[in-house]
Amino acid sequence: MIVLTAFNKGGIGKTTLAVHVTGLLAEHGRVLLIDGVDQCDSFYFFCRQLPQQELVPQRAKVNSQVTAIWNPGKSPLRRLVDFNEYDSIVLDINSPKEDTVQAIAGSQPDLILLPINDQALAMRQLEDTLAVVAAMEEQAGYQCRVRIVPLGVTKTNIYEHLSSFTTKPQNLGVTQRINKHPQEFSKSLQQGEYVWNYLGCEYIRDILQNVVT
Ligand SMILES: Nc1ncnc2c1ncn2[C@@H]1O[C@H](COP(=O)(O)OP(=O)(O)OP(=O)(O)O)[C@@H](O)[C@H]1O
Ligand SMILES: [Mg+2]
Repeated sequence: MIVLTAFNKGGIGKTTLAVHVTGLLAEHGRVLLIDGVDQCDSFYFFCRQLPQQELVPQRAKVNSQVTAIWNPGKSPLRRLVDFNEYDSIVLDINSPKEDTVQAIAGSQPDLILLPINDQALAMRQLEDTLAVVAAMEEQAGYQCRVRIVPLGVTKTNIYEHLSSFTTKPQNLGVTQRINKHPQEFSKSLQQGEYVWNYLGCEYIRDILQNVVT
């Protein structure tokens, strides 16, 4: 399975989702995490060090099932990966629309996860992001599962907005809501610890598990 976390807005939760989904998939097989972001937070989460070089696979320090690779130059997946070596691939990318387009075209993901929170403009950016994904589906003539993951925002709020969006991917859904846990999520990324290991956040594991199975 190939999973892409995307959203046409920064600081919303793409990296957070990418590392947690990688952790869950690694319980079932070998996972390649492709970090396409300059500041390489998801690579760091697993390897506990900055990448020495671009495009050099590195076994994660904290999980032997995970290999991370830093791909800031956005090389297409087919050039990077021997698909036989991994059971799943997770891509973490930058926010600009062009990055989303390039990642979908280059990797043809089976699942796209779109985090959304209650920041101003987030809903408008959700509309843009969904339109980009829908356009890619139409152009490439393929379909994938697209799931919006509410981080703090309510599902009702999302559905209200969704009903007014004109262009949406075919296979679109909204996962259970993940509440706001600013301290735990921030610690999680800094310490390389899954957020469900913190008190009060255990339920998050089930929500994300349901999305990837
Ligand atoms: N449920 C949540 N509650 C509170 N804070 C959260 C939640 N989920 C994520 N965050 C916080 O949101 C911030 C941004 O998350 P993250 O780095 O994953 O976003 P991003 O979309 O990858 O950003 P960038 O565009 O910079 O790569 C982080 O500080 C993270 O701790
Ligand atoms: Mg990020």
